[in-house]
Amino acid sequence: MNAIIRRIEELKKEKDAVILAHYYTDGQIQALADYVGDSYYLSKIATEVPQNTILFCGVSFMGESAKILNPEKTVIMPDSYADCPMAHMADLDKIKEVREKYKDVAVVCYINSTANIKAHSDVCVTSANALKIVKALPNHTIYFIPDGNLGRYIADRIPEKNFILSDGFCHVHTSIKRENVERAKELYPEALILAHPECTGDVLEIADYIGSTSGIIHYATQSNTDTFIICTEMGVLYELELKNPNKKFYSVGHRQFCPNMKRITVEKLLEQLETMNNTIELNDETYHKANRALDRMFAMSK
Ligand code: 13P
Ligand code: SF4
Repeated sequence: MNAIIRRIEELKKEKDAVILAHYYTDGQIQALADYVGDSYYLSKIATEVPQNTILFCGVSFMGESAKILNPEKTVIMPDSYADCPMAHMADLDKIKEVREKYKDVAVVCYINSTANIKAHSDVCVTSANALKIVKALPNHTIYFIPDGNLGRYIADRIPEKNFILSDGFCHVHTSIKRENVERAKELYPEALILAHPECTGDVLEIADYIGSTSGIIHYATQSNTDTFIICTEMGVLYELELKNPNKKFYSVGHRQFCPNMKRITVEKLLEQLETMNNTIELNDETYHKANRALDRMFAMSK
């Protein structure tokens, strides 16, 4: 493994490349990356790094967002099949239908969506900034796509607006069942429950904290409590344990595992640095339109 890592470091210099990784990737990938973060941080840092090539250790929508924001850069994915199913769970015909019916609607798309869906939306959000952005939008009617659980979480906190929700979901987060969280709480009664807003409403109801992956890591790190039940993908345990060696983190079950994020391996990373085959390419119109939704997100999350 050391030889592979040395070769990756050499190729990074040769190819003027930087490695970005999401908290859900394997710990080995996170250890190797130059920047690790949640989807908001990674999209932002992609616009700030000086390197010409971005090797994106995440799922397709993350690499696509980096490319939309940096069309002049080369964005490579270590595994071109690492895709987020939820990113495809919105329908362009339904967007058209809602726009025709509600003239004042803002189509708000979660960053977990394809470039094409972003191109048909008014603004993009992540789990870290969705509440702030939707609250600040001048529109009364909000069509939130594709995640129904995140949409419901926001809608419950902004009762003055009219929400149209969709039925997209994350199979990893919806596999976290309330009865299992309650069972974990019985085993560790002193533990705080930290949940990602992609979890179902009945899990969020009993959570002590709800936030993005970065939010969860930050909350646990600054907390005086030392035991936590983590309701999100297990990859976050790497950073949680690194930052908090004396605290205890429990997952709810073995299905808190995103198979797409885990497709990324050190070997594939090396292969892509060598061949640079899996580049992200989008047509000009999609770049331009999707960029508007992402730019508006940055402007509104300041
Ligand atoms: P974050 O925005 O918290 O990084 O979450 C991304 C994601 O894919 C959650 O399943
Ligand atoms: Fe998509 Fe869920 Fe994996 Fe996040 S955890 S990338 S929403 S499948």
